[in-house]
Amino acid sequence: MVAEVINGKELSIKLKLNMKKEVEHLKEKNIVPHLTVVLVGNNPASRSYVNGKKKASEEVGISSEILELSEAITESELIQIIEQLNNDENVHGILVQLPLPIHINVQHIIEAIDPTKDVDGFHPYNVGKMMTGQDTFLPCTPYGIMTMLHSKKITIEGKHAVVIGRSNIVGKPVGQLLLNENATVTYCHSRTENLKEITKQADILVVAVGRPNVIDKEYIKEGAVVIDVGINRLENGTLTGDVDFDSASLHAAYITPVPRGVGPMTITMLLHNTIKAAKGMKK
Ligand code: GUN
Repeated sequence: MVAEVINGKELSIKLKLNMKKEVEHLKEKNIVPHLTVVLVGNNPASRSYVNGKKKASEEVGISSEILELSEAITESELIQIIEQLNNDENVHGILVQLPLPIHINVQHIIEAIDPTKDVDGFHPYNVGKMMTGQDTFLPCTPYGIMTMLHSKKITIEGKHAVVIGRSNIVGKPVGQLLLNENATVTYCHSRTENLKEITKQADILVVAVGRPNVIDKEYIKEGAVVIDVGINRLENGTLTGDVDFDSASLHAAYITPVPRGVGPMTITMLLHNTIKAAKGMKK
Protein backbone atom coordinates (compact mmCIF):
# COMPACT_ATOMS: atom_id res chain seq x y z
CA MET A 1 0.00 0.00 0.00
CA VAL A 2 1.16 3.52 -0.71
CA ALA A 3 -0.72 6.14 1.27
CA GLU A 4 -2.82 8.94 -0.18
CA VAL A 5 -1.51 12.30 0.99
CA ILE A 6 -3.92 14.68 2.72
CA ASN A 7 -2.56 18.01 1.56
CA GLY A 8 -3.40 20.62 4.21
CA LYS A 9 -1.98 23.43 2.14
CA GLU A 10 -4.35 22.78 -0.78
CA LEU A 11 -7.33 22.32 1.52
CA SER A 12 -6.54 25.55 3.35
CA ILE A 13 -6.40 27.49 0.05
CA LYS A 14 -9.88 26.17 -0.79
CA LEU A 15 -11.28 27.05 2.63
CA LYS A 16 -9.71 30.51 2.55
CA LEU A 17 -11.43 31.29 -0.76
CA ASN A 18 -14.81 30.66 0.89
CA MET A 19 -13.81 32.67 3.93
CA LYS A 20 -12.83 35.60 1.75
CA LYS A 21 -16.36 35.67 0.34
CA GLU A 22 -17.83 35.43 3.83
CA VAL A 23 -15.70 38.36 5.00
CA GLU A 24 -16.87 40.41 2.01
CA HIS A 25 -20.50 39.75 3.01
CA LEU A 26 -19.75 40.79 6.60
CA LYS A 27 -18.12 43.99 5.35
CA GLU A 28 -21.29 44.79 3.39
CA LYS A 29 -23.00 44.75 6.81
CA ASN A 30 -20.26 47.03 8.18
CA ILE A 31 -18.64 44.27 10.20
CA VAL A 32 -14.88 44.08 9.68
CA PRO A 33 -13.58 40.96 11.43
CA HIS A 34 -10.58 41.95 13.54
CA LEU A 35 -8.02 39.74 15.21
CA THR A 36 -5.53 41.03 17.78
CA VAL A 37 -2.52 38.80 18.31
CA VAL A 38 -0.51 39.45 21.46
CA LEU A 39 3.19 38.60 21.28
CA VAL A 40 5.19 38.82 24.49
CA GLY A 41 8.98 38.84 24.19
CA ASN A 42 11.25 37.84 21.38
CA ASN A 43 10.89 34.10 20.77
CA PRO A 44 11.82 33.75 17.05
CA ALA A 45 9.52 30.76 16.46
CA SER A 46 6.59 32.64 18.05
CA ARG A 47 7.35 35.71 15.97
CA SER A 48 7.34 33.64 12.81
CA TYR A 49 4.00 31.94 13.73
CA VAL A 50 2.44 35.31 14.56
CA ASN A 51 3.56 36.82 11.25
CA GLY A 52 2.02 33.81 9.48
CA LYS A 53 -1.28 34.45 11.26
CA LYS A 54 -1.27 38.12 10.24
CA LYS A 55 -0.44 37.31 6.63
CA ALA A 56 -3.21 34.69 6.40
CA SER A 57 -5.71 37.11 7.97
CA GLU A 58 -4.91 39.69 5.31
CA GLU A 59 -5.38 37.10 2.56
CA VAL A 60 -9.05 36.69 3.48
CA GLY A 61 -9.67 40.35 4.36
CA ILE A 62 -9.61 39.99 8.15
CA SER A 63 -8.06 43.03 9.77
CA SER A 64 -5.33 42.04 12.21
CA GLU A 65 -2.69 43.60 14.39
CA ILE A 66 0.22 42.24 16.35
CA LEU A 67 0.57 43.77 19.79
CA GLU A 68 4.26 43.40 20.62
CA LEU A 69 4.95 43.54 24.35
CA SER A 70 8.16 43.46 26.32
CA GLU A 71 9.42 40.20 27.85
CA ALA A 72 9.49 42.15 31.14
CA ILE A 73 5.73 42.88 31.24
CA THR A 74 4.11 41.76 34.49
CA GLU A 75 1.17 39.39 34.67
CA SER A 76 -1.17 42.11 35.93
CA GLU A 77 -0.09 44.53 33.19
CA LEU A 78 -0.80 41.87 30.59
CA ILE A 79 -4.20 41.14 32.13
CA GLN A 80 -5.01 44.87 31.99
CA ILE A 81 -4.20 44.94 28.27
CA ILE A 82 -6.40 41.89 27.68
CA GLU A 83 -9.24 43.59 29.54
CA GLN A 84 -8.94 46.60 27.26
CA LEU A 85 -9.18 44.29 24.25
CA ASN A 86 -12.18 42.52 25.84
CA ASN A 87 -13.92 45.90 26.09
CA ASP A 88 -13.02 47.05 22.58
CA GLU A 89 -16.02 46.29 20.38
CA ASN A 90 -13.88 46.52 17.23
CA VAL A 91 -11.78 43.56 18.41
CA HIS A 92 -13.52 40.26 17.68
CA GLY A 93 -10.72 37.78 18.33
CA ILE A 94 -7.88 37.80 20.86
CA LEU A 95 -4.96 35.40 20.64
CA VAL A 96 -2.09 35.43 23.12
CA GLN A 97 0.79 33.57 21.51
CA LEU A 98 2.26 30.82 23.71
CA PRO A 99 4.66 30.13 25.31
CA LEU A 100 4.74 33.10 27.67
CA PRO A 101 7.74 34.11 29.82
CA ILE A 102 7.97 31.90 32.91
CA HIS A 103 7.06 34.68 35.36
CA ILE A 104 3.56 34.81 33.83
CA ASN A 105 0.97 32.19 34.76
CA VAL A 106 -0.45 31.01 31.41
CA GLN A 107 -3.74 29.88 32.89
CA HIS A 108 -4.38 33.30 34.47
CA ILE A 109 -3.88 34.91 31.05
CA ILE A 110 -6.12 32.45 29.19
CA GLU A 111 -8.85 32.95 31.79
CA ALA A 112 -8.62 36.75 31.42
CA ILE A 113 -9.72 36.53 27.77
CA ASP A 114 -13.45 37.03 27.15
CA PRO A 115 -14.66 33.53 26.12
CA THR A 116 -16.61 35.10 23.24
CA LYS A 117 -13.32 36.43 21.81
CA ASP A 118 -11.24 33.32 22.62
CA VAL A 119 -10.44 32.28 19.06
CA ASP A 120 -7.84 29.79 20.35
CA GLY A 121 -10.57 27.90 22.21
CA PHE A 122 -8.32 27.63 25.27
CA HIS A 123 -10.55 29.28 27.90
CA PRO A 124 -11.91 26.69 30.37
CA TYR A 125 -15.44 27.85 29.49
CA ASN A 126 -14.87 26.91 25.84
CA VAL A 127 -12.97 23.75 26.75
CA GLY A 128 -16.01 22.72 28.82
CA LYS A 129 -18.38 23.49 25.96
CA MET A 130 -16.24 21.44 23.57
CA MET A 131 -16.15 18.58 26.07
CA THR A 132 -19.94 18.55 26.34
CA GLY A 133 -20.31 18.69 22.55
CA GLN A 134 -21.74 22.22 22.34
CA ASP A 135 -21.09 24.78 19.64
CA THR A 136 -18.06 26.86 20.54
CA PHE A 137 -14.58 27.90 19.40
CA LEU A 138 -12.62 24.72 18.81
CA PRO A 139 -8.85 24.83 19.31
CA CYS A 140 -7.27 25.43 15.93
CA THR A 141 -4.94 22.45 15.47
CA PRO A 142 -7.48 19.81 16.56
CA TYR A 143 -10.16 21.54 14.49
CA GLY A 144 -7.82 21.53 11.50
CA ILE A 145 -7.19 17.81 11.95
CA MET A 146 -10.92 17.04 12.08
CA THR A 147 -11.47 19.17 8.97
CA MET A 148 -8.77 17.20 7.13
CA LEU A 149 -10.42 13.89 8.09
CA HIS A 150 -13.82 15.21 6.97
CA SER A 151 -12.37 16.44 3.67
CA LYS A 152 -11.51 12.84 2.75
CA LYS A 153 -14.79 11.48 4.17
CA ILE A 154 -12.80 9.25 6.50
CA THR A 155 -15.06 7.24 8.80
CA ILE A 156 -14.54 8.20 12.44
CA GLU A 157 -17.55 6.57 14.10
CA GLY A 158 -16.66 3.24 15.69
CA LYS A 159 -13.00 3.50 14.72
CA HIS A 160 -10.11 3.18 17.14
CA ALA A 161 -8.30 6.51 17.29
CA VAL A 162 -4.97 6.60 19.08
CA VAL A 163 -3.52 9.97 20.06
CA ILE A 164 0.15 10.18 21.04
CA GLY A 165 0.56 13.32 23.13
CA ARG A 166 -1.58 14.88 25.85
CA SER A 167 -0.98 18.62 25.61
CA ASN A 168 -3.85 21.01 26.32
CA ILE A 169 -3.36 22.54 22.86
CA VAL A 170 -3.40 19.40 20.70
CA GLY A 171 -3.47 15.93 22.27
CA LYS A 172 -6.29 16.26 24.80
CA PRO A 173 -8.68 18.26 22.61
CA VAL A 174 -8.18 16.21 19.43
CA GLY A 175 -8.99 13.06 21.41
CA GLN A 176 -12.13 14.77 22.70
CA LEU A 177 -13.24 15.83 19.21
CA LEU A 178 -12.70 12.29 17.92
CA LEU A 179 -14.75 10.97 20.85
CA ASN A 180 -17.50 13.52 20.11
CA GLU A 181 -17.72 11.88 16.68
CA ASN A 182 -18.00 8.42 18.22
CA ALA A 183 -14.45 7.13 17.83
CA THR A 184 -13.02 4.87 20.52
CA VAL A 185 -10.11 6.92 21.78
CA THR A 186 -6.84 5.86 23.43
CA TYR A 187 -4.31 8.42 24.66
CA CYS A 188 -0.62 7.53 24.71
CA HIS A 189 2.17 9.67 26.16
CA SER A 190 5.73 9.61 27.42
CA ARG A 191 4.91 7.17 30.24
CA THR A 192 2.94 4.75 28.08
CA GLU A 193 4.20 1.17 28.18
CA ASN A 194 4.07 -0.93 25.00
CA LEU A 195 3.45 2.07 22.76
CA LYS A 196 3.90 0.09 19.57
CA GLU A 197 1.33 -2.54 20.58
CA ILE A 198 -1.26 0.19 21.08
CA THR A 199 -0.50 2.29 18.01
CA LYS A 200 -0.64 -0.82 15.81
CA GLN A 201 -4.32 -1.11 16.74
CA ALA A 202 -5.09 2.40 15.55
CA ASP A 203 -7.42 3.02 12.61
CA ILE A 204 -6.62 6.72 13.06
CA LEU A 205 -3.24 7.63 14.56
CA VAL A 206 -2.59 11.23 15.62
CA VAL A 207 1.05 11.89 16.43
CA ALA A 208 1.85 14.99 18.51
CA VAL A 209 5.10 14.05 20.19
CA GLY A 210 7.41 16.93 19.21
CA ARG A 211 10.39 14.75 18.19
CA PRO A 212 11.44 14.15 14.58
CA ASN A 213 10.67 10.91 12.75
CA VAL A 214 9.95 8.78 15.85
CA ILE A 215 6.99 6.91 14.33
CA ASP A 216 7.66 4.62 11.38
CA LYS A 217 5.74 1.82 9.67
CA GLU A 218 6.44 -0.58 12.56
CA TYR A 219 3.99 1.47 14.66
CA ILE A 220 1.28 1.57 12.01
CA LYS A 221 -1.47 -0.88 11.04
CA GLU A 222 -1.97 -1.52 7.32
CA GLY A 223 -4.67 0.87 6.09
CA ALA A 224 -4.49 3.32 8.99
CA VAL A 225 -4.93 7.09 8.73
CA VAL A 226 -1.82 8.88 10.05
CA ILE A 227 -1.97 12.52 11.13
CA ASP A 228 1.41 14.11 11.84
CA VAL A 229 1.22 17.19 14.05
CA GLY A 230 4.99 17.58 14.48
CA ILE A 231 6.93 20.58 13.18
CA ASN A 232 10.61 19.89 13.88
CA ARG A 233 13.46 21.88 12.41
CA LEU A 234 16.50 19.68 11.80
CA GLU A 235 20.07 20.95 12.11
CA ASN A 236 20.30 21.23 8.32
CA GLY A 237 17.32 23.61 8.41
CA THR A 238 14.70 21.31 6.89
CA LEU A 239 11.28 20.89 8.49
CA THR A 240 10.16 17.40 9.38
CA GLY A 241 7.29 15.84 11.22
CA ASP A 242 7.14 13.37 14.11
CA VAL A 243 6.42 10.62 11.57
CA ASP A 244 8.94 9.08 9.20
CA PHE A 245 6.84 9.90 6.13
CA ASP A 246 8.42 7.52 3.59
CA SER A 247 8.31 4.52 5.90
CA ALA A 248 4.82 5.25 7.29
CA SER A 249 3.44 5.73 3.77
CA LEU A 250 4.08 2.03 3.12
CA HIS A 251 1.49 1.01 5.73
CA ALA A 252 -0.91 3.95 5.92
CA ALA A 253 -3.95 4.46 3.68
CA TYR A 254 -3.85 8.24 4.29
CA ILE A 255 -1.07 10.40 5.68
CA THR A 256 -0.48 14.11 6.27
CA PRO A 257 2.89 15.53 5.13
CA VAL A 258 5.14 18.05 6.89
CA PRO A 259 5.28 20.77 5.68
CA ARG A 260 1.94 21.34 3.86
CA GLY A 261 -0.05 19.23 6.30
CA VAL A 262 -1.59 20.15 9.63
CA GLY A 263 0.37 23.45 9.95
CA PRO A 264 -1.51 25.46 7.30
CA MET A 265 -4.80 24.08 8.59
CA THR A 266 -4.12 25.41 12.10
CA ILE A 267 -3.89 28.97 10.82
CA THR A 268 -6.92 28.49 8.57
CA MET A 269 -9.09 27.39 11.48
CA LEU A 270 -7.96 30.48 13.41
CA LEU A 271 -9.38 32.58 10.57
CA HIS A 272 -12.57 30.53 10.70
CA ASN A 273 -12.86 31.18 14.46
CA THR A 274 -12.23 34.90 13.98
CA ILE A 275 -15.05 35.12 11.44
CA LYS A 276 -17.27 33.17 13.84
CA ALA A 277 -16.37 35.67 16.61
CA ALA A 278 -17.17 38.60 14.32
CA LYS A 279 -20.58 37.11 13.57
CA GLY A 280 -21.14 37.09 17.32
CA MET A 281 -20.63 34.21 19.73
CA LYS A 282 -23.20 34.02 22.45
CA LYS A 283 -21.97 33.17 25.91
N1 GUN B 1 1.72 28.23 20.45
C1 GUN B 1 1.77 27.08 19.74
N2 GUN B 1 0.55 26.78 19.24
C2 GUN B 1 -0.28 27.75 19.64
C3 GUN B 1 -1.67 28.00 19.42
O1 GUN B 1 -2.40 27.24 18.77
N3 GUN B 1 -2.15 29.14 19.98
C4 GUN B 1 -1.38 29.98 20.72
N4 GUN B 1 -1.96 31.05 21.25
N5 GUN B 1 -0.10 29.78 20.94
C5 GUN B 1 0.45 28.68 20.39
